[in-house]
Amino acid sequence: MRFFIDTANIEEIREASSWGILDGVTTNPTLCAKEGREFRSSIKEIADIVDGPISAEAISMERDGIVEEARKIASIAPNIVVKIPITEEGLAATKKLSSEGIKVNMTLIFSVNQALLAAKVGAAFVSPFLGRLDDIGHDSIAILYDMVVVYQNYDFDTKIIAASIRHPLHVTKAAEAGADIATVPFSILQQIVTHPLTDKGIDRFLKDWDKIKNL
Ligand code: E4P
Repeated sequence: MRFFIDTANIEEIREASSWGILDGVTTNPTLCAKEGREFRSSIKEIADIVDGPISAEAISMERDGIVEEARKIASIAPNIVVKIPITEEGLAATKKLSSEGIKVNMTLIFSVNQALLAAKVGAAFVSPFLGRLDDIGHDSIAILYDMVVVYQNYDFDTKIIAASIRHPLHVTKAAEAGADIATVPFSILQQIVTHPLTDKGIDRFLKDWDKIKNL
């Protein structure tokens, strides 16, 4: 499974990238607004740091507007992927953009049928939002499993990004379900590196080493 980081924060991206585990970055308007920086320059900076797909979201709602905005976003750097919410207009725009070779991450996906449609119009990635599904009492992981099966049935090239990840178990379950990618907030990446027994083990080894280091 590939790991993307779900943030627009440069320090978090640099740090996760330095661990050697990072394959890409996803942002959305909320994450960008949190950083309070000019959109294009901050996306460009991110694209210079990580040599993998960087998702940046279009906010236009009508197909011609989405296409025009997506072309501008895609021109920021060669590794940019344009995020487009699934709507009828979004599908039409994605069809056009994918025929032009612009990569689309179809976002705000909450059902297998939405994922199926996104794949049919040639989206490079599809982002089911696990946490938001769980928030309304749906079984996000069961939906993810079904999505993986449907994509396998038709041999779609579209890659599934497990998004809206809220805790370490989402990461494990996404990997078990066969998601191609998990996009994970920095705090959860930090959590999945650690285990209390690892910390305890390191502590014991260091204390025992102290007993013999001057012999
Ligand atoms: C990433 O592609 C999504 O925009 C993000 O994971 C949404 O996460 P949230 O539901 O925690 O806002």
